[in-house]
Amino acid sequence: MIFRILSFIAPLLGAERSHNLAVMLLRAVGYIPGAKWLMRKLYAVEDERLERDVFGIHFRNPIGMAAGFDRNGDIFRELGALGFGFVEIGTITPEPQQGNPKPRLFRLDDDSAIMNRIGLSSEGLEQAVANLRNDHGGVIIGCNIGKNSATEPEDAPHDYLRVFRNLYQYADYFTVNVSYNTSFKQYVPRTRESIISILEPLFDFRRGQNQYRPILLKISPDLSDEDIDMMTDIMIDTPLDGIVATNGTVRHSGLKTEPERMKRYGAGIVSGAPLTNRSIEVIRRVYKRSNGTYPIIGVGGIMTPEQAKAMLDAGATLVQVYTGFVYNGPTFVGDICKQLLEDSKN
Ligand SMILES: Cc1cc2nc3c(=O)[nH]c(=O)nc-3n(C[C@H](O)[C@H](O)[C@H](O)COP(=O)(O)O)c2cc1C
Repeated sequence: MIFRILSFIAPLLGAERSHNLAVMLLRAVGYIPGAKWLMRKLYAVEDERLERDVFGIHFRNPIGMAAGFDRNGDIFRELGALGFGFVEIGTITPEPQQGNPKPRLFRLDDDSAIMNRIGLSSEGLEQAVANLRNDHGGVIIGCNIGKNSATEPEDAPHDYLRVFRNLYQYADYFTVNVSYNTSFKQYVPRTRESIISILEPLFDFRRGQNQYRPILLKISPDLSDEDIDMMTDIMIDTPLDGIVATNGTVRHSGLKTEPERMKRYGAGIVSGAPLTNRSIEVIRRVYKRSNGTYPIIGVGGIMTPEQAKAMLDAGATLVQVYTGFVYNGPTFVGDICKQLLEDSKN
């Protein structure tokens, strides 16, 4: 019902206000006694055949919510009740920051896509700790971590470590986001040295802890083949646990949305259907180079249950969705789970 009302008023509100309203409503629903139980009954598909053990964590199913939807950890329990096997919150930065001026989020209906130039708006580390401190209700939480825009590149490792250290006990795994976009004057560590300088302090901190938290690297679909191989080699050569592939793309070529409209919207990262083939290609490359021995979280352009299956077949161990969920609504995760169950019979 809520989702039907939302889809009706969304065009009137604009993409970002609709998103914020959806988050607010989901959060409000979560306070109603029995509501999460009801959502689970309505939307979640539970079956032993969907369960996965990946990097020492038990997942109810392999479908996660991608980073950027629950930016501060406000609604992961409600997303769990909608059937997600895990939720990646963030990107979380050490200090709160607003991101780029609005409007910065656009629906490209003709392309089944979303374009954004949010530029990492985050309520910061302290708010994330406050949100994650209480019981997670059985939902597996990944924390996607980044640096503040105002932090100089040479101080980036310090920002990542600060978020990692403070959230270490509150998350099940961490994703180091190195897939920001240069066109918005954001920092993109792309050399092996700059990425290792971010990862090393995290590995060092983890060595001193009793509990093990997997660390993954999230990469851009716009990397060259050589750079994808370089990222894969970092995974092979260091204690990195896996790769999340991919973020959105800065490429706008081939879109069906009229060029005039794209010009009006300006720069941005495109997610959704235009990404499907490229994300699968990147996953296949990482999988081949690492001989299928490392977990890959596949994300980018999963708009149908068949595409989720294609991504798993290309070598992903788990998958995440964002745009597909926005376009298909709350039955999407259940639909993917049903398709996977159907395929497991064959
Ligand atoms: C509005 C929006 C905000 C996003 N914010 C983040 C973010 O903060 N950090 C991140 O790593 N990825 C972010 N992403 C990228 C998604 O996590 C995902 O990698 C990308 O959208 C491709 O998946 P999709 O095609 O299923 O949407 C964002 C995506 C969208 C659409």
